[in-house]
Parts: sequence; structure tokens; C-alpha cells
Amino acid sequence: MGKHLNLPPGLVTLADHGEHARRSLDARTWAYFEGGAADGITLHANRAAWEAIRLRPRVLADLSGFDPGTALLGRAMAAPVLVAPMAHQGLAPPDAERGTALAAAALGVGLVLATQSGTPLEEVARASLPEPDRGPLWFQLYWLGSRAWVRELVDRAQRAGYEAIVLTVDAPVQGVRDAERRAGFTLPPGLESPHVPPVAKGAKLAALVQQAATWDEVAWLASESTLPVLLKGITHPADAALALEAGAAGIVVSNHGGRVLDTLPATATVLPEIVSAVNGRVPVLVDGGIRRSTDVVKALALGADAVLVGRPVLHGLANAGAAGVAHVLRLLLDEFMAAMALCGKRRVADLRDAGLVEAPSRP
Ligand code: LAC
Repeated sequence: MGKHLNLPPGLVTLADHGEHARRSLDARTWAYFEGGAADGITLHANRAAWEAIRLRPRVLADLSGFDPGTALLGRAMAAPVLVAPMAHQGLAPPDAERGTALAAAALGVGLVLATQSGTPLEEVARASLPEPDRGPLWFQLYWLGSRAWVRELVDRAQRAGYEAIVLTVDAPVQGVRDAERRAGFTLPPGLESPHVPPVAKGAKLAALVQQAATWDEVAWLASESTLPVLLKGITHPADAALALEAGAAGIVVSNHGGRVLDTLPATATVLPEIVSAVNGRVPVLVDGGIRRSTDVVKALALGADAVLVGRPVLHGLANAGAAGVAHVLRLLLDEFMAAMALCGKRRVADLRDAGLVEAPSRP
């Protein structure tokens, strides 16, 4: 990991990390990490929507007992932030998924490991579990192969110490990735996918749609698994209602960082509808374009329990391995404490305050 400890000076925001990573990664990897589907309309809408929301804080609030910590599904965390599941972190060697896990655990931030991790899930768990102040450790699942394969993978995650399953439901097939195709991105040979069944490796759309999950599979998984099952990729309130009926223990409002179906609305604009459909029965998380702590504050004001941060973590990983991820998360957490205090809120629960934000409009 030594060669990565040269974090350049002057990186003070997540955007700075992004700009540095863009200059240091090869163009094909950058296209994979950074690209959105098709015209990138959803990718950009995610950012634009957070930016367009204005904060309306109250002054002179009592800030004694200030605490940015929270809890999700019974596990404490340093702040309402988790690292989003992201595939193929081995494209940012050498630390890859293990580096992300070390940094997240050290900072008390939750981690969602992707099915398409090149590092075996047990090895990632070993990097995370020993840290006493770590956040939640969850495993992201793609429904691939068969019920038998899914059962085995979920059991494996549970044995390794994962505390929840996050089933991604918005990508039975890959999005239309123009940026990747233009850049000529292909997965380099030797990049492992130890959690993907042979039947799904390199499978084309016609085969993937045959394997695609339905609500029956969600209900089966929720009843079969002793771990809570969250659904990631919900953008319609009617689907949030179905998710609860199927036994989901949480919802992640997500459009997959704008990577799958282009022209979906920004997550910030659909979040209030989902929060209202869920009505406090399970936690609601949100991702997509979170780059500033004020975005986190806005998400919580609109009713989210926590946010997931994706690409900035990859930027930190590419820039300085585990140390780079730790730096990205530190920047976000420090900013979050400042934003909370400046909004006059001493507890994360107090951020759930519709009066703190002006209603978002669709960008
Ligand atoms: C992606 C898939 C792997 O967004 O989730 O690249």
C-alpha cells in the first residue's frame, strides 16, 4: 500500500478528489467508474436536484449534546453515511475492496460490499469486523443464477459476519453505457468476480432476462434469510409499497447513480414520495450525487435515514488507496458536523424536519 500514501496537497473537497482521480486513472477505467447511462440525464439530474434545494435553518438553537452519530437496523454508526456498493474496485489497485473496507470501518461509516467485488467477501469482512467503532457491514446482492446460488451466497455472507443483504432491483440487465463503449472499456483479464455464478459471467441480455428476479423471489429471499433484506433501486412509491409487502427491511431510493436507465428522475425529487409511502415502517436510504454534507442534511430533512456515497469513494481509492478513501470520508464527515451545527441541529434525528428545506423541484 506504500506507494499510495502520497496524497497530493490541496484536496479539500470530494470534487477535488474526483478531479485528481480523473487525471490519474486511465480513460477507460474513468469511463466505467464515472459514466452514466446513455445521455447522462439522470446522472446530472441527481447532482442538480441536491444543488437546487435551499436550506432554511433556524439560528440560536441549543447545540449542547451535539452528536452526528446514528443507528441503522440496530447498529451504531459515526454518521448517517454508508459506502455504496461499487463493482470492480480492483480497477483501482492495489487496495481495492479491502482498502475501502478498512477506511470505512476506521471512520465508523457503513459499508455495502458489491456482489461484483474482486475480493472475496470473507477477506473484506476480516478488514472491517475487528474495528470496534465500525458502522454496519452489508452485502449487496444481484439476483443471479438460481435460488440455490443465492441461498449459498447469502449464507456465506452471513457466516462471514455481514449484517444485512441489499438486493439491487433496478438492473436485471446492464444499462446502455455509451461512455464505456466510446472509451472501449472492457473488464481487464484477471479481474476476478468470485461471487458471480458461472451461468451469469459474461451473460448477454437474452440470458439475463431469463434469470431476472420478480417480487416472488424477493418474498422468498426475505422469508428464507435470517438477515434483513433491503431493496436498492426503488424510485416508484408503488414499488416501495410492494417491497414492504414482500418483507423488505429497508428501501434504498436509487437510480444506480444514473448508470442503468437514463431519464429517471433525480433521487432527491422522488425521495419524499417514497418516504411517505413507507411511512416510517422501515428505514429509507438514498444515494445518487451526494457530494456535499449539505446534500446529506437535505436527504435527512426530506425523510431519509441515511445516505450512500459511491463514486467519491472510488476517487479516494484511486488517489491513495485506503488512505484516500479515509480522507474522502473524513472530509464528508467533518463537513457534515459543520452543516448540522449550522442548521441548528444537535441530533441526526432532529434533521428530519421538512421546514429545513425548500421543496425540491424537478430539474
Ligand atoms: C454497474 C453495475 C455493475 O453499475 O452495478 O457498473
